[in-house]
Amino acid sequence: MKVGITGASGFIGQQLIASLQLKGHTCVALKRDLLYNPEKGLADLLTGCDAVINLAGAPILQRWTANNKRTIYSSRVDTTLNLTETIRKIPAAQRPKVFISASAVGIYQTGLEHDESSKEFDRGFTGTVVLGWEKASESIPPSTRRVIFRIGVVLAKESQTVKQLRPLFKAGLGGKIGSGQQAFPFVHIDDLVSAFETALTDENYSGIYNLVAPKSINNAEFTKCFAQTLNRPALAPAPAFAIRLVFGKASGLLLEGATVNPKRLKEAGFTFSYPTIEKALDQILKN
Ligand SMILES: NC(=O)c1ccc[n+]([C@@H]2O[C@H](COP(=O)([O-])OP(=O)(O)OC[C@H]3O[C@@H](n4cnc5c(N)ncnc54)[C@H](OP(=O)(O)O)[C@@H]3O)[C@@H](O)[C@H]2O)c1
Repeated sequence: MKVGITGASGFIGQQLIASLQLKGHTCVALKRDLLYNPEKGLADLLTGCDAVINLAGAPILQRWTANNKRTIYSSRVDTTLNLTETIRKIPAAQRPKVFISASAVGIYQTGLEHDESSKEFDRGFTGTVVLGWEKASESIPPSTRRVIFRIGVVLAKESQTVKQLRPLFKAGLGGKIGSGQQAFPFVHIDDLVSAFETALTDENYSGIYNLVAPKSINNAEFTKCFAQTLNRPALAPAPAFAIRLVFGKASGLLLEGATVNPKRLKEAGFTFSYPTIEKALDQILKN
């Protein structure tokens, strides 16, 4: 297949492209400038693509100044709206057959448990962004199959979370964040790539899917497993006030969390290679 990808230079984009290319697919990076200025030739690039994978988005874990908030929102919602409008304008026969977009479990209200049928959405900035992001592609024509993955924290050797935590834990400076009781919905990068690839080719995949490992954990359990896998103690908790000091209003991303059930993936018979945090961290930290 010929697959157009936004956010292609990012962490998930790079892992996905490497795997897709190994399987013989051709990947075309859909450049950022085109997403904001589709009249510069986005339709030409999309015409002839069998599939579009939408990953573009500015980092959300940064201080939420007015400017940063605009960028976080616009880099997901405006780009997706432009992509959707452009796909709509392409004659049906030449349109991509499938559109797969990243979304995030941050859409859900924290402190509760959710499957895909939940309507208990976050009422803050994160919820506004993610709801807007999903809504932006709702008018993709029915001839293009639309799949949305609500992704949890992606774990991999190359992920920011692991790259930042590994040296801290190795030095014995790791610890839970705040109370540690907040849910920590995660997914191993190999399972994420596998889910995207399955959705690309399996025509039964359609609509919204939670993309998190089936065994839910909280932050304290994640911390304990991270430390144990590296054979180190985890004695240096990051107190909530310190996190608030560094991240301001964005600190909720670390101090709170929703328990998320990948119900639709399980119903579809999707096999997770890393269903538990132990399996995921063992593969990531020991190799
Ligand atoms: N990684 C996770 O744990 C996780 C969890 C849940 C959801 N997600 C979502 O999945 C998507 C991909 O995640 P990732 O980890 O690969 O993120 P990433 O490494 O930060 O990459 C995102 C990509 O988006 C593009 N981008 C950055 N700033 C932009 C802007 N201002 N306007 C338009 N495009 C911009 C860039 O690609 P180009 O330079 O190629 O344009 C960038 O490489 C993101 O939208 C993220 O919110 C990720």
